[in-house]
Amino acid sequence: MAKAVSFLQKEIGPPPPVAAVLGSGLSAAGDSWQKIGIISYSRIAGFRKPGVAGHPGALWMVRNGDTCFVALAGRCHYYEGFSLPEIVFPVRVLASWGVTRFILTNAAGAIRPGLQPGSFMLISDHINLMGDNPLRALPVTGLGDTFPDLTQVYSASLREIARDCAESIGLELQEGVYVAVTGPNFETPAEIRMFGKLGADAVGMSTVPEVIALAQMRCQVLAISLLTNPAAGTTSEPVSHEEVLSAGTRAAEKLGRLIVAIAAKI
Ligand code: HPA
Repeated sequence: MAKAVSFLQKEIGPPPPVAAVLGSGLSAAGDSWQKIGIISYSRIAGFRKPGVAGHPGALWMVRNGDTCFVALAGRCHYYEGFSLPEIVFPVRVLASWGVTRFILTNAAGAIRPGLQPGSFMLISDHINLMGDNPLRALPVTGLGDTFPDLTQVYSASLREIARDCAESIGLELQEGVYVAVTGPNFETPAEIRMFGKLGADAVGMSTVPEVIALAQMRCQVLAISLLTNPAAGTTSEPVSHEEVLSAGTRAAEKLGRLIVAIAAKI
């Protein structure tokens, strides 16, 4: 981690205040961003290269007017065989470098009736059903609290800013609870009915490990799901990765504008 942090210090300099993580198919959100630096993950110690289509694997320094932020285009997933400490390593490096606010994005299946595919949902809380935890380590990592509190982990003040920004660019933003599963298979209809009864509004295969690691490091987190598809069994259609990626590409431009607007405000 020290090696990765000093590399970023040398290549980029002091950290910007904000980082964005672009999830499955969502790297196109950055197509129109002005990138003043692009660093392939392969150049950064400990960063693994995501292996799944739709995840390029590069760190971008982005400038928009007076606003600078860093973006991780692509993340690694548990279903690829990576461990949770490997998956959260990039955000831990950014937080150690000095980034304090994170905008995490993902693609998710819509569970709650009324949540439209193609729309965005602010995550207000989560349910971790991955059966694993990135903080599980002996000896303890020394990165923060051993038993972090998660009651306020999805910053209410950042959510308010996000809602204002969405309104100002004419984007509808739902809010709800995200349940994280390991994948890689999509869920069964019975699982989706169960998740709905447990209080979940959307389901996905990422983000929660990063949120937990960032809570431990006392960073502020905003998380946004693009609802790419109706969750399994909520319609008669099957769920496919291609559908997830193409919905991501279609919505990416809007997400890009939202991230830029939020980064300018926080
Ligand atoms: N389930 C799990 N993960 C997902 C889904 C889904 O329906 N859509 C996008 N990511």
